[in-house]
Amino acid sequence: MKLFPYSTILPVLAGRLVTAICPMAHTLLSPSARNMNESLIIPPDTNPPSHFYQTHQATTQKRGIIGFDAASQHVSTTGQHAFVPPGPDDRRGPCPGLNAMANHGYIPHNGFATIDEFVQGTHEVFGMGQDLALVLSVYGTVLDGDILSASFSIGKGDNTFSIFGSPTSQNGLTDSHNNYETDASPTRGDLDQYGDNTHIQLSLFRELYNLQSHISDPSQVNYDIDLLTAFRVTRFQQSIEQNPLFFNGAFSGIAVQPAAYQFIFRYMANKSEEYPEGRLDREVLKSFFAVRGEEEGDFVYTPGHERIPDNWYKRAPGDEYGLVPFIIELNTIALAHPEFLSIGGNTGRVNTFTGVDLGDLTGGVFDSTTLLEGNNLGCFVLLQVAAMAIPSGLEGIVEGVFGRLSEVLNPLLARWECPRFGGINEALLERFPGYSRHSVRNG
Ligand SMILES: *[C@@H]1O[C@H](CO)[C@@H](O)[C@H](O)[C@H]1NC(C)=O
Ligand SMILES: *[C@@H]1O[C@H](CO)[C@@H](O)[C@H](O)[C@H]1NC(C)=O
Repeated sequence: MKLFPYSTILPVLAGRLVTAICPMAHTLLSPSARNMNESLIIPPDTNPPSHFYQTHQATTQKRGIIGFDAASQHVSTTGQHAFVPPGPDDRRGPCPGLNAMANHGYIPHNGFATIDEFVQGTHEVFGMGQDLALVLSVYGTVLDGDILSASFSIGKGDNTFSIFGSPTSQNGLTDSHNNYETDASPTRGDLDQYGDNTHIQLSLFRELYNLQSHISDPSQVNYDIDLLTAFRVTRFQQSIEQNPLFFNGAFSGIAVQPAAYQFIFRYMANKSEEYPEGRLDREVLKSFFAVRGEEEGDFVYTPGHERIPDNWYKRAPGDEYGLVPFIIELNTIALAHPEFLSIGGNTGRVNTFTGVDLGDLTGGVFDSTTLLEGNNLGCFVLLQVAAMAIPSGLEGIVEGVFGRLSEVLNPLLARWECPRFGGINEALLERFPGYSRHSVRNG
C-alpha cells in the first residue's frame, strides 16, 4: 500500500468523527480539512444503478406491506453472540446500539471496527439500510476515525492501535464532540454542561422512561416516534436553557441529533406479528441502555453493558430503515418542529440561542425559508456528506469504500435534483463558543 503524507492527513483526520448511530449531535469539516480540496461531489447527471439504490427502491415500494418472519428477524444472543461485557481495554462510547453490537460480537469486541464491519453489523442486528450505514460510518471515519484502515473506535480513540503496522491517531466517537457526537442527545448529557458525553445521565434516562409512566398495562407501553420527538423538544429546550455552550451544528444538529431519537424506536423496538414496525417497551429500552432495576428509584446503570435482549426481533428483510426512510422521517418531524433546523447556538450564556443565516452559511445554495420545500432538506444533508473533504491518493479498501459511497449518493442527488454545493462556511460558526472550543482537535 502506498502511504500518502501522513503528516498532512492525520492532523486533520484526528480532529473529527461521527457516530450517528448514536444518540448525539455535531458540525462539519474544519477549514483545514476543506483545504484538502478533494470532494466527493459528482455531477448530478451521472446515474449509475447500484445494488444500494435498488435495495432502497425495493424498500420504498414494499413499505406498508411488510410482514413478520420470526426466523429471519430473530437476533441471536447465544453462542458466538452471547453477551460478553467489555474488559478494561475494550472501547465503549456514547452510542448504545454500537456498544451492544460489540458486547455481542457483531462488531469486534474491542470496539474498533471497519466501515464494512459497521455496515454488516448494523444490518444484521438492527436492519439498518446499508446506504445509511455506509454514509454514517464513512462520515465517522473521515471526521474522527482512522482513514488508512477505514475504521473508527466506538469509544475513546487510540494513538497506538495499528492495523497496517503503522500507528493510527484518532479521536473515536467519544471525543468527536460537535463533529459527530452532539448536544441535546436523549440520554447523554451535553459535554460542556455535564463534563461527560459518553455515559447516560440517569436523570435524563428517567425523564425519558417516565414518559410512559401513565400506562399501567405493560403491553401497551411504547416509546414511539411521537414520544421521542416530544422528548427531543424538551431536551433541545433544556440545552438552550441550561448549557451556555449549546451548539446545534449543520450536520450534527440537523442529521445526527434527530437520528439519535429516531433510531431508538426504529431500531430498538421489538418487531412482531402484531407490531411489524415494532413496539418498544420498558424492559427492552432498559436493556439497550444498560440500565437494570424495576423501580426508577432503584435504577442501576452499568456503563458499556448495553445488551441485545433475548428473544428480540429486528426489522424485517425488505423493510430496512435506510437513507430514504430516515430522511423522509427527518423532514416530517422538521415540518412540525422547524426550530430543530436552527443552526447556531448559545453565545456563552444560557438562553442566548442565535441562529446563523442558512444562505450565508451555504453560499446562497440553501435558504431557511425554503429548506422544508421539496427535496431541499434531503439535499442539504446528503450534500454535506458529499462535500466531505477526503485526502487524495487513496487506494485499496479505502478507495473501494469511497467508490461505494458515491454509488449511494449519486443516484439520490440526481433523483432529487440537488444543486451543486461546495460545503459549509465554517468561519461563520466560530463565534459560537460551543463550536470553536471543539472545532479542531488533534488526537
Ligand atoms: C482547491 O481547488 C481549486 C480549484 O481546483 C484551486 O483553485 C484551489 O487552489 C485549491 N485549494 C487548495 C487549498 O488546494
Ligand atoms: C418480542 O415480541 C415477541 C412477540 O410479541 C415476544 O414473544 C418477545 O418476548 C418479545 N421480545 C422481547 C425482548 O420483549
